[in-house]
Amino acid sequence: MTRVSRRVFIRGGLGSALGIWTGVAQVALAACGGRKDAPVDWPAFIAGVHKLAAKHASPPRSSRPLVEEIAALSSRVEPDAVRAVPVQRRSHDADIPWPAFNWIHHEPRFEIVLLEFDPGDAIPAHNHPGLHGVLTCGAGEIEVESFQLERDVPGAIVLKRVSRDVLVPGQTSALTPDWRNIHRVRAPDGGQVIDLFLPPYDDPSVGTSRWFSISNQPEPDRPDLFRAQEQRPA
Ligand SMILES: [Fe+2]
Repeated sequence: MTRVSRRVFIRGGLGSALGIWTGVAQVALAACGGRKDAPVDWPAFIAGVHKLAAKHASPPRSSRPLVEEIAALSSRVEPDAVRAVPVQRRSHDADIPWPAFNWIHHEPRFEIVLLEFDPGDAIPAHNHPGLHGVLTCGAGEIEVESFQLERDVPGAIVLKRVSRDVLVPGQTSALTPDWRNIHRVRAPDGGQVIDLFLPPYDDPSVGTSRWFSISNQPEPDRPDLFRAQEQRPA
């Protein structure tokens, strides 16, 4: 298995986009009526998500069609194009085995963060109150386990595992405020994730995330149910 270093993703990233984007206008049609399997460059992706977010602006509060349509678009984004997008803000604590967070797009309706995992980096189980999200593997292999709250009583939290996937580049994992809203993410050999949220985390409607420590063993006779404890992240 190929191990993916964080440095792979920084290559060409900061402030180098202008030259890369010369001549991409012809590809920008892809997100708005081009072939459904055609590659999508970064401007076309942003335009496409913007259009989908506007289309679903007065939705039911939780919309699976919204995240499924964004996931279909995101799976077509060219990884090299993502790596060329200028980083607006970066956060990385080398003392904990978490990925580096690179904010690469922010607007009132949505934001996108490029996560860079070194081998062994992981994000513990957490939820996303009020958020729709689409996680797309951009490089490496990304393990994603998704959960829903089965029981939420102080001292007796039970999570139901609804999926367990290993994503390769182009594959996605989506969530809504009431569907698969809890997940944990690991990259044993390193990797890259394009993480998109609607609305952005700084929107007043978004709640504070809860973090969970999950039992390694499922409940007796219920392999999908796991006891959990709420905890603060490391
Ligand atoms: Fe998350």
